[in-house]
Amino acid sequence: MNLTELNKVATAMVASGKGILAADESSGTIKKRFDAIGVESTEDNRRDYREMLFRSKEAMSQFISGVILYDETIWQNAKDGTPLVKLIESSGAIPGIKVDEGTQALPMCPGELVTVGLDKLAERLKKYYERGARFAKWRAVIDIGSGIPSMTAISVNAHALARYAALCQAAQIVPIVEPEVLMDGDHDIDRCYEVTGRVLNKTFQELRVQRVALEGMVLKPNMAISGKKCPKQASVEEVAEKTVRLLKACVPAAVPGIAFLSGGQSDEEATAHLNAMHKLGPLPWGLTFSYGRALQAAPQKAWSGRPENVAAGQRAFSHRARMNGLASRGEWQSSLEQKAA
Ligand code: 13P
Repeated sequence: MNLTELNKVATAMVASGKGILAADESSGTIKKRFDAIGVESTEDNRRDYREMLFRSKEAMSQFISGVILYDETIWQNAKDGTPLVKLIESSGAIPGIKVDEGTQALPMCPGELVTVGLDKLAERLKKYYERGARFAKWRAVIDIGSGIPSMTAISVNAHALARYAALCQAAQIVPIVEPEVLMDGDHDIDRCYEVTGRVLNKTFQELRVQRVALEGMVLKPNMAISGKKCPKQASVEEVAEKTVRLLKACVPAAVPGIAFLSGGQSDEEATAHLNAMHKLGPLPWGLTFSYGRALQAAPQKAWSGRPENVAAGQRAFSHRARMNGLASRGEWQSSLEQKAA
């Protein structure tokens, strides 16, 4: 393992003004997204859609540091035969790959999940590296509900995250460590804060036990935020203040960067929250976005599967990428959203 090189990649992934595009929806998830815009989820349509994003020059060269791909996409070529990975590289962004294989029910823990995919991971990582991937992603899912999460779920998921991260670093690939505490419930922000703290502490404990070099990884957490169904929604300032406090308490400064998931926040909320956190600086790590939905909902709608809408789709993507790029420096204002509209 060359830690200097891993650290260089991790630092580039969270470079100021840029963030990560999570375009790694599994076949099931992208079908859901396409259903919503009335597009059939065929291999060609998935390729055309992602090619549209990766050819968005403004977004890709100025505001996107890296792209997380799904297995199908990393092997796909653009319509003209250029590998999609090459499109990403030539824009100056770093290709990455989702390597977990989804979740399974966790035995003895009703309603809880464990992420799988460690078998054969070492061999898969080798092939992804040869294809150009320089970072990877593994997502653990922790749900909040009555009596959950259990310590069992937190512990097995943290263990798997650390196993994955160590295998990545041995393969010279930067692991994005993503322990996602879902925002689906009716819990308030303080409950999210408390659970996320337990999850992060356990995750870093496992990373240490399994000798993962913190300098060569990126953390992808949820924000401390109210559950979607909670009657009392925390303000932007409260989300920013509690999230920064929590991360400072749980994430060592040796970690080069933190890149948030959007997790079901609206596009503008996800941007406003990141922006507000940068008003509370200086921060000990790079702090940016690794959004899926909050970067792609607008371009998906604008595109709607029609070739004549490609330019509109790219404009919508570039706009969201620019807004989040500004937020990653604390330079975003909501008036910039209205101007574009
Ligand atoms: P969202 O931003 O849509 O939550 O997706 C990010 C991601 O990669 C989840 O694993």
